Amino acid sequence: MSLANYAGAQIALGVNIDHVATLREARRTRYPSVIHAALTAEQAGADSITAHLREDRRHIQPRDIDLLKELLQTRLNLEMAVTEEMLDVACHVQPYATCLVPERREELTTEGGLDVAGNLPRIREACARLASAGVLVSLFIDARPEQIEAAFEAGAPAVELHTGHYADAANDDERDRMLEQLSEMARFAATGGLRVHAGHGLNYHNVIPVCRIGVIRELNIGHAIVAQAVLVGFGAAVRQMKGLIQAAGVE
Ligand code: PXP
Repeated sequence: MSLANYAGAQIALGVNIDHVATLREARRTRYPSVIHAALTAEQAGADSITAHLREDRRHIQPRDIDLLKELLQTRLNLEMAVTEEMLDVACHVQPYATCLVPERREELTTEGGLDVAGNLPRIREACARLASAGVLVSLFIDARPEQIEAAFEAGAPAVELHTGHYADAANDDERDRMLEQLSEMARFAATGGLRVHAGHGLNYHNVIPVCRIGVIRELNIGHAIVAQAVLVGFGAAVRQMKGLIQAAGVE
């Protein structure tokens, strides 16, 4: 697809259900069910479901991944660290896609992008292994030229640009700068042939400018949707987000 054709294309919504599991694991109960949430999200318009199986298993559990793989009608995107254990899991489960992220036990959430430039041989090998298992790989990276160049070299078909710095900007000027950087880097990545996704910290108030960047094909959104679901229900929360994304593409 040429860059010009991207403008009118639909942006897919990946719903991250990690924090449904966070609520469940807070009391080690059977509820709320991540499967119920995922299937509801699909019915409400989610194009894929993302789940991060962390090394410390703080929210999503291995059984959730097996059930999601079996029951989803759309696509499973497995978010994971680049470890031998997780590569074995991904090659065994064979989700539609994986998103490779950095992982530190002490972090509240994924804090920065993967340092692809600093770990190129290991990440290139991981991309090759996942590709040979038939799994689409995206690399979660900061919107920086050296990371995008490294993603080209790693042989990944997709990148997910980290929108957390944009979402967390302290004021309007910083937010505009971060948006401009995301926009420039999204174009750089797309021009080089990468499929461009984005995510982290996106919510009902900040998602529209990111949709309007134009070359982004998929957004992965979790915390804001789960938080909204507490107030309006999971299906309604997903429909509201999907509606914003679709409307942003139309104008
Ligand atoms: N994309 C990646 C790579 C992430 O690590 C996360 C957080 O798990 C998300 C998207 C979703 O972020 P949020 O929960 O802030 O919407």
